[in-house]
Amino acid sequence: MQKKFQLLMAGLILASMTSGALAHGDVTPHPVDTSSLTPIGTEWVVPNPYRGNEKAISVGLDGYEHNCAGCHGLYAVSGGVAPDLLKLNAECLSIASKNAQAACMNDSDDYFKTRTLNGKKNSEGRYTMPAYDAVFTQEAVWAIKAYIDSRTLEEAAKSTAKH
Ligand code: HEC
Repeated sequence: MQKKFQLLMAGLILASMTSGALAHGDVTPHPVDTSSLTPIGTEWVVPNPYRGNEKAISVGLDGYEHNCAGCHGLYAVSGGVAPDLLKLNAECLSIASKNAQAACMNDSDDYFKTRTLNGKKNSEGRYTMPAYDAVFTQEAVWAIKAYIDSRTLEEAAKSTAKH
C-alpha cells in the first residue's frame, strides 16, 4: 500500500514536471460526472447539501483526484506545494456549541466554493490555482467538498485514537 502510494506520487510529480503544470498552474480542469447524485439546481445553496452523503463523497473523491490532487496531494494529504485542504474546517470540529460549529462549517463551505470557482492569481496576474467556474456544476463543487470533509473527519478520528 505504502509502496503503491509512493509510486503514484512519483508518477504525479513526474507528470506535472514534464507538463510544467505545477510551475505554471495551468492544469486543465476536468468536468465531474455527478449524474448519480440528486441534482441541487442552478441556484447556489450553502451549506453543502451533500455533507455526509456517501455517494457524493465517492463522486467527490474521483473529482478531487482528477482535478486537485496534483497540487493539493493524493487523498488531500498536502505535500506542501499548495495549502492543506484538511485544515479548512478542522477547527470547526473542535467547537463545542452545535450552532457555532454549523456556522463555522457554513463559512468554510462558502470560502471553498468561492476559491474553487475563481481560482487564485498571484500579484503578476498569473493563476497559481486554476478557476473551475467554467467546468464545475454546483453538484461537482459540493461533492468534492463532501469528500474533503469526510477526509477531515477521518484524520480527526485518527488523532483522537492516538491520544
Ligand atoms: C495548479 C495547482 C492547483 C490545482 C490543480 C488546484 N489548486 Fe487549489 N490552490 C493552489 C494554490 C497554489 C493555492 C494557494 C493560492 C494562494 O492563496 O495564493 C490554492 C488554494 C486553494 C484553496 C484555499 C485554501 C486555503 O487554505 O486558503 C482551496 C479551497 C483550494 N485551493 C481548492 C482546490 C480544489 C477543490 C481544487 C480542485 C478542484 C484545486 N484547489 C486545484 C493550487 C492548486
